[in-house]
Amino acid sequence: MEPMTRTAPAKINLALDILRRRDDGYHDMKMVMQTVSLADRLEVTETDGGFVLQTESGLIPEGKITLEERATKAFFERIGQPVPGLRVCLEKHTPAYAGMGGGSADVAALLRILRDHYCPQLPDAVLEEVGFTVGSDMPFCVRGGTALAQGRGEVLTDLPAMPACAIVICKPDFGIPTPELFARVDAGALRNRPDVDGMMEALHRQDLRGIADRLGNVFEQVLPAEFGEVFSIKEQLCRLGALNALMSGSGPTVFALFERDEQAAAAAAEMKCRYRETYVAHPVKKF
Ligand code: C5P
Repeated sequence: MEPMTRTAPAKINLALDILRRRDDGYHDMKMVMQTVSLADRLEVTETDGGFVLQTESGLIPEGKITLEERATKAFFERIGQPVPGLRVCLEKHTPAYAGMGGGSADVAALLRILRDHYCPQLPDAVLEEVGFTVGSDMPFCVRGGTALAQGRGEVLTDLPAMPACAIVICKPDFGIPTPELFARVDAGALRNRPDVDGMMEALHRQDLRGIADRLGNVFEQVLPAEFGEVFSIKEQLCRLGALNALMSGSGPTVFALFERDEQAAAAAAEMKCRYRETYVAHPVKKF
């Protein structure tokens, strides 16, 4: 059997609001999510037995049950077929632990490969449900494009595709654990909530400046002082001509919107001198 390959594009949050803490410990969210062209690459081969995940840095911790393996089991359970032997090779190009959903995007790409090969008739909605068993942002990563995400992240409403623009993505050299940042949030005490409804209207109008003006992420309000570099990166990107810049998800990656590719390329070249993990990407439409 031929190896099956797919790209796994990362996401950014154009707007991220946290509405309340739920009784189950999770939070109700109101977010506008956008798939971007910065992507990992997955290759899946059927083998004689077992589940193997391989990256450039070797086999992923031997003996550890990865999200990929859990999602694979959930998928085959859902379609009522035995789990075949599978080797998943992962080529990483997106920053890890970065607020860009990179890990979830890899699992989502794996699920789409498995669906295409083993159960092509399986509806997208079911694949999103299978994804949701391993992570809150999985349903969006399975769907892709531009969407409003509510609930834990699984209640999705498609939005008009983001207008053409260039996106500079810049990750400083530290990571911020998502659960720790959630734990710092007192949803009732948040100020300056992003105008998520205004963001959706700007998308409907295809108004890039309106979108840029409404970028907002409440996680920026609870960032510990030692991660202040995030704000410095935002300022640097705006000085280099961005319409606006924002931390994505639970950070620390910052993205900045540019009207023109050349401006973005020049800004990225400048930022790359200081931040190794700097990239230029574009919005990606629904899969
Ligand atoms: O769903 P996932 O495992 O990706 O979530 C990681 C962590 O982020 C959760 O353990 C929880 O602390 C937090 N989270 C949350 N509310 C959400 C999504 C995630 O509190 N809607």
